[in-house]
Amino acid sequence: MLNIIKYLVVPAVALVLTMKIYNWLNETLVPKAPETTEESKQEVLIGGPFSLTNQDGETVTNQDFAGKYMLVYFGFANCPMICPTDMADISQALDKLDDTQLEKVQPIFITIDPERDTVENIKTFLENFHSKFQGLTGTNEQVAAAIKEYRVYNRKVESDELQDYLMDHSSFTYLMGPDGKYVAHFSHEDGANKIAEGLKKYL
Ligand code: NI
Repeated sequence: MLNIIKYLVVPAVALVLTMKIYNWLNETLVPKAPETTEESKQEVLIGGPFSLTNQDGETVTNQDFAGKYMLVYFGFANCPMICPTDMADISQALDKLDDTQLEKVQPIFITIDPERDTVENIKTFLENFHSKFQGLTGTNEQVAAAIKEYRVYNRKVESDELQDYLMDHSSFTYLMGPDGKYVAHFSHEDGANKIAEGLKKYL
């Protein structure tokens, strides 16, 4: 009887206890993969067709960039702070890419202020940033359509100090894939290094 306890019951109890401890450790210590929700499975509905005019007065549509990654930023040339900072960050990030990576990406600035951002104004504005940028403007309707496709928040704000108006706007930079679909986005806080690292993952 003692032998049975010694050779069967004790090892059996030990085994069960070991498995229980193993399971407990596994549940406690191993981080769980986030559950895939219905929402995250859905395609992100950002981006779509546009037809606009570039800084050289040429008509440009999303189809012209098919097969390339588009890095899309919406803003306005008169922006005192946010747009110039973001455009400079994007430009510096592009400088950190090698030639092969740079070849795959098309940086695009789209105005949210077509009334003031004429073709000429956009051309002047772009002189401060990476030479690969295309700057796009258009009629109010064309610009409104692009803004809607990219779900860009924008609002006209009268400024007494500047005797003119400003545009309050969201400041995300969208990376769109060669198929024109949303890949990733960068925010105003990201800065050149983070944008460059992010771009290198895909290019
Ligand atoms: Ni701005």
